[in-house]
Amino acid sequence: MIRDKIVLITGGSKGIGLGIAETLLSEGMKVAITGRNIQSLEEARAYLISRYPEGHLLIIKADVCQKEQMEKTVHDIHQTWGEIHTVIANAGVGHFSSVEDLTDAQWHDTINTNLTGVYYTIKTSLEDLKATKGYLITIASLAGTNFFASASAYNASKFGLVGFTQAVMLDLRKYGIKVTTIMPGSVTSYFNGHTPAPEDEWKIQPEDIGQMVRDLLFMHPRTLPSKIEVRPTLPPK
Ligand SMILES: NC(=O)c1ccc[n+]([C@@H]2O[C@H](COP(=O)([O-])OP(=O)(O)OC[C@H]3O[C@@H](n4cnc5c(N)ncnc54)[C@H](OP(=O)(O)O)[C@@H]3O)[C@@H](O)[C@H]2O)c1
Repeated sequence: MIRDKIVLITGGSKGIGLGIAETLLSEGMKVAITGRNIQSLEEARAYLISRYPEGHLLIIKADVCQKEQMEKTVHDIHQTWGEIHTVIANAGVGHFSSVEDLTDAQWHDTINTNLTGVYYTIKTSLEDLKATKGYLITIASLAGTNFFASASAYNASKFGLVGFTQAVMLDLRKYGIKVTTIMPGSVTSYFNGHTPAPEDEWKIQPEDIGQMVRDLLFMHPRTLPSKIEVRPTLPPK
């Protein structure tokens, strides 16, 4: 059902995006991943093509904060494969400090990436999703419903993203487009300068989010899980 369909994953060079890319490649999809750092993209490419067909992978250097770069991303995918069926708006950043210490640059980076970046991702791929009756999934966070100290910018971006995605879902379902926001708790990744370590075993793993995305894509067209909270089963006490 999803074999040979085309998926765009923003921020697919590491962490959750890479986990989703691997799962969808294993299902036979054609996967385009983006990121700002070409070296990270090349490393992801080397890893993925050692396991999956090279012709099913496209790496594209693109910043979600730059609309023209997202337009070019969609154009490049058209030139290589055709219209996009699935969009995973995953790219995101976090800056964590008290609002007293938060800088203007950190505020704008968070909102531009996590909120405006998703808006650009959707605006540039919308005609494809209409044509393919496709699927849009945004990766929000439990920080989109739970607020905590030192997270004012991140909370603002993810609360905004949850609201934005749910309104988009209502706008687009009349076209047969499915829209879901996934709101994970702690996931093992490189987020906020972290390096994955054995102590992260209790966390959700990127491939678990990949499995969730695959299950959503396989769900019957009449049924739409529009907002999904997901958390580690056994967090440390
Ligand atoms: N890890 C968690 O515990 C957790 C929990 C809930 C939600 N999330 C969300 O999950 C998403 C993925 O995060 P992650 O944990 O996988 O972090 P990660 O390991 O740091 O990966 C982030 C990815 O996004 C890319 N990226 C960042 N800014 C970008 C931009 N402006 N344009 C294009 N790509 C960009 C990064 O590549 P470049 O740096 O090369 O651009 C990288 O590929 C984020 O939206 C995050 O908020 C994470």
